[in-house]
Amino acid sequence: MQDQIDQYTAEINAFTPANADELETFRIKFLGTKGIIKDLFEQFKTVGPEEKRTFGKVLNQFKQLAEAKYNELKETFNSELTTHDSEFDKTLPGDGFQVGSRHPLSLVRNEIIDIFKRLGFVVAEGPEIEDDWHNFSALNFPEEHPARDMQDTFFIKKNNGKDDIALRTHTSSVQVRMMENGKPPFRAIMPGRVYRNEAISARAHCFFHQVEGLYVDENVSFADLKQTLYHFVQELYGEGTKVRFRPSYFPFTEPSAEMDVSCTICKGAGCNMCKYSGWVEILGCGMVDPNVLENCGIDSKVYTGFAFGMGMERIANLKYVIRDLRLFSENDERFLNQFQSEII
Ligand code: PHE
Repeated sequence: MQDQIDQYTAEINAFTPANADELETFRIKFLGTKGIIKDLFEQFKTVGPEEKRTFGKVLNQFKQLAEAKYNELKETFNSELTTHDSEFDKTLPGDGFQVGSRHPLSLVRNEIIDIFKRLGFVVAEGPEIEDDWHNFSALNFPEEHPARDMQDTFFIKKNNGKDDIALRTHTSSVQVRMMENGKPPFRAIMPGRVYRNEAISARAHCFFHQVEGLYVDENVSFADLKQTLYHFVQELYGEGTKVRFRPSYFPFTEPSAEMDVSCTICKGAGCNMCKYSGWVEILGCGMVDPNVLENCGIDSKVYTGFAFGMGMERIANLKYVIRDLRLFSENDERFLNQFQSEII
């Protein structure tokens, strides 16, 4: 060990680097984390107690010598290092950092929530796995009634031989839960994911997102429904958007309607989106059927209400013209990055 140290000491004393790179090599060789000094200290751990005394001192001196040499030479080459450094133009802008973007469905959901919040609606949520009662029976779907086929349901569990537990097919189930657990007046919207057993294509998917709404109080009329939804589309698609209601059927509303708006793309002139009709359908709505109120423990002689439901993908499509539903769930960055400027 002593021989080795003598040899390295001579090497250090004789060392005269020509440039900063050579000095760096020296530092790594002697002072680096896998360098000679580290190695000698490892060896030192294994020597006997007698030698420890003598070598401890020698080794420390050797380390100090290497450090002193390095620090002294570093001073000499400092100017070289600085020159190196100043080759960077410090006035250049830094590298930009990538900002994420919001998903178009989140943008649409937030906008819808904002509009209804200003009208005094609160946001309600419920489970995605539902029982037959909350998804169907309480909503006036009679058993074995063909109306149940309107929504291709993913049943996941039977109860007493009957299909019972399912992935919810609409967020109307949240309306039932809300009415069962509270007292009128109710004024709420229910955004959330829903499931239907459909083959996946550009125009259909086995899951999508809805925002439904419920307003129950004394003296709520169809005029309230029309005015609320009219106001909603003025806010969402701009002043002057026209609406029309067409009679429809839902088991849980009577009367029921579908609402169209003047095409958001061509403003009614006729285009691909509205199939040259000037109108596009955006939601289903109606007056809550008295049976539904009674099923949820609400006196239908005192209270009336309206409900509506829309697909968020549809609303987003009319805003951003997204031709293929699958894009919403594929997480393709080329698609998602297009919404970067929409961060609010
Ligand atoms: N639940 C209906 C659907 O999913 C939408 C709807 C809600 C219609 C409320 C009328 C009233 O198709």
